Amino acid sequence: MDEWWRNAVVYQIYPRSFQDSNGDGIGDIPGIISQLDYLAELGIDAIWLSPVYKSPGLDNGYDIADYQAIDPQFGTMADMDELIAEAHRRNIRIIMDLVVNHTSDQHEWFKQSRRSRNNPYRDFYIWRDGKNGVAPNSMQSGFSGSAWQEDSRTGQYYLHLFSAGQPDLNWANPAVRRAIYRMMNFWLDKGISGFRMDVIDLIGKDPDHEIRENGPHLHEYLQEMNTATFGRGDFMTVGETWSATPSLAQKYSDPRRNELSMVFQFEAMQLDKQAGKEKWDWRPLQTAELKAVLNKWQTQLDYHAGWNSLFWNNHDLPRIVSRWGDDDKCRVTSAQMFAILLHLMRGTPYIYQGEEIGMTNYPVESIAEVDDIESINMYNERLAAGAKPADLIAAINRMGRDNARTPMQWTNASGAGFTSGRPWLHVNPNYREINVAAAKATPHSVYTMYQRLIKLRHSEPIITDGEYEPITSVPDAVMAYYRSYEDTRWLVVANLTNKEQIINLPVKFKQVLITNYSRVPKTLVNAILAPYQAFAVVVN
Ligand code: GLC
Ligand code: CA
Repeated sequence: MDEWWRNAVVYQIYPRSFQDSNGDGIGDIPGIISQLDYLAELGIDAIWLSPVYKSPGLDNGYDIADYQAIDPQFGTMADMDELIAEAHRRNIRIIMDLVVNHTSDQHEWFKQSRRSRNNPYRDFYIWRDGKNGVAPNSMQSGFSGSAWQEDSRTGQYYLHLFSAGQPDLNWANPAVRRAIYRMMNFWLDKGISGFRMDVIDLIGKDPDHEIRENGPHLHEYLQEMNTATFGRGDFMTVGETWSATPSLAQKYSDPRRNELSMVFQFEAMQLDKQAGKEKWDWRPLQTAELKAVLNKWQTQLDYHAGWNSLFWNNHDLPRIVSRWGDDDKCRVTSAQMFAILLHLMRGTPYIYQGEEIGMTNYPVESIAEVDDIESINMYNERLAAGAKPADLIAAINRMGRDNARTPMQWTNASGAGFTSGRPWLHVNPNYREINVAAAKATPHSVYTMYQRLIKLRHSEPIITDGEYEPITSVPDAVMAYYRSYEDTRWLVVANLTNKEQIINLPVKFKQVLITNYSRVPKTLVNAILAPYQAFAVVVN
């Protein structure tokens, strides 16, 4: 099989916020088609398209009412077919979001299911009796509150690991699995190249024992799915697996097990929260911990028997320059440093829309400006428990998902070139300086750095296939590693902080591959690294 995804670079599109074509303020499929040339020029191989299916939009499309229909606000099925064809003409593949842990409560299956206890669709979802007038057990929703919702029509509770509008499908029911595989084949037959699988580590859940992730039948279901659908071709599949460890990752992605191509895990992305608490309960990042986690995944997931994704951003995470870099004076250099550090590692890199121009978080002043259901539910829950509104808004500004969802900044025209109308979510006012047009017109921009890193990956097998060796003899604030392949050896160095750092590496180098400063120190013996300085050199 052609494992094309091993040296591919994936670009994630959040359709609502990418490009609006008709002035209604909501990004759409024709808008995406109009920007395919931009993506081809950036050099990416595949698009991960966040959901465009028919949806009431409670969780912006992660609540699907019909898996085989396009939501009218995004376009039509004909637009979708055109997107697939136009992407292929530019050698870009389309990976669709597969959200099958749950549906919308507006899905026909659920409408039937809740009608009566003996409806043929009853067992498509997870229904239980209450215990003495309260929920069956203490399972919690990822979006605050109990994971059980009482339904007056039949007097039972249904499970929802996300909002009450996202009832969980009952994967233990073979009829559910068959219906999902049929739907997946519908999309594969249309010419898409694979799936990104939303919260896939939850489908094996055992609600009666309060087991959420990594349930007893999870891998069995994935193997069955592989055989019934994408196992027949050169498809790419990536599982969103918040709970994966390197050994669990191997279960998902060892080619001999016939499950998925790779995992998308968040261990590094959870380092700035307090132990045992939620992401809202922030603590500063310790760079030593970040290095340890990145190195662990590079060295412990055997790349012959597993594969990992590389990313800093997606539609659920705050913007990396604002989070761990500097979104003010060192915005460009810190964004470039993160790009160099990640894109020279082993794994498949993902770029989230706007990351390639160094887009930043956008703070709000009040809850009325917030769209994201996760942030709003947390706000209401903690407010009721006595928290101060200002503290909650600060937490949302730091970690909330809307930070990643503000419209793509294309130009300095009003609406940022995203829309001619009123955008569904506020445009970050810094669009006047930070936009695609400006980044493309600047020789050493964040954009050109991403473009060069993508090219490098496509031309240098060392990046995909080379060995990885962490360097421990550098300060906590500096991350450094070797890559080696046949008789070539690269050294990658990145200062993770806004302060100068001194490194002492007794190696000679003959060529600079990439750098975010015009000069690289002549020798690495007692060399000073500038704030966020990063480079890769060929050694020996
Ligand atoms: C995933 C998605 C997120 C969504 C959740 C429920 O984590 O990335 O956006 O809210 O699943 O579908
Ligand atoms: Ca539109």
